[in-house]
Amino acid sequence: MIGLIGAMQIEVEDLIRQLEHKQETRIGMDTFVSGTLFGQEAVLAVCGPGKVNAALCTQSMIFHFSPEWIVNLGVAGSGHNDVTIGDMVIAKATVQHDMDTSPIGDPVGFVSKIGLIEIPCDPILSERLLLAAGKVENLKVHEGIIATGDQFVSRGDVRERIYSRFHALAIEMEGAAVAHACYMHGTPCGVLRSISDNADGSAEMDYPTFTKVAVAHSHQVIFNLLGGK
Ligand code: ADE
Repeated sequence: MIGLIGAMQIEVEDLIRQLEHKQETRIGMDTFVSGTLFGQEAVLAVCGPGKVNAALCTQSMIFHFSPEWIVNLGVAGSGHNDVTIGDMVIAKATVQHDMDTSPIGDPVGFVSKIGLIEIPCDPILSERLLLAAGKVENLKVHEGIIATGDQFVSRGDVRERIYSRFHALAIEMEGAAVAHACYMHGTPCGVLRSISDNADGSAEMDYPTFTKVAVAHSHQVIFNLLGGK
């Protein structure tokens, strides 16, 4: 069994539609849909936006389904001018850009208890995601840091601050929370994001326009990853 988590319905609904032998399991306010996806046993969930929603959903998925690995997929804002709308970013590691206990001596982004700024993704799974993304025609693929926080970033100065602190190529709201929960339970994790906007003043306009095509790219990668025909 493998796990896929998206924040919004649109990020996973086409994959859910393609699940065979569907079964629904409700845990609290999360709904998990399991079945066979492109020949593999899979469980999918829409976690809702933000770090807490994502971490709770991930932990429930781990406890109830014990997936071999979990991939968080969806859209993101670009963290840097080299990464443009329609590109794909696969995380080597994720950071929580709004985690800040610096007034009491920690570096910005440091997550106590796990003792990390960069929460790693599983290198083997990330390599497989890179290979799967490489098979999608005309798709520019980047590997690097993905930054997560509880805000939709739509200001150039905020985007620049995140890049200067963390060198993040993409900015979103769930990846580091999924990676955090997976890290705490020893579940391999991958984060795959397709760029829908530039996380600056144009983001509010671009996001609804480009989300659909960005979602389609991430679904093609999942199809290739699972060996779909
Ligand atoms: N997801 C897609 N675009 C985003 C942005 N600009 N900020 C946060 N999350 C996003």
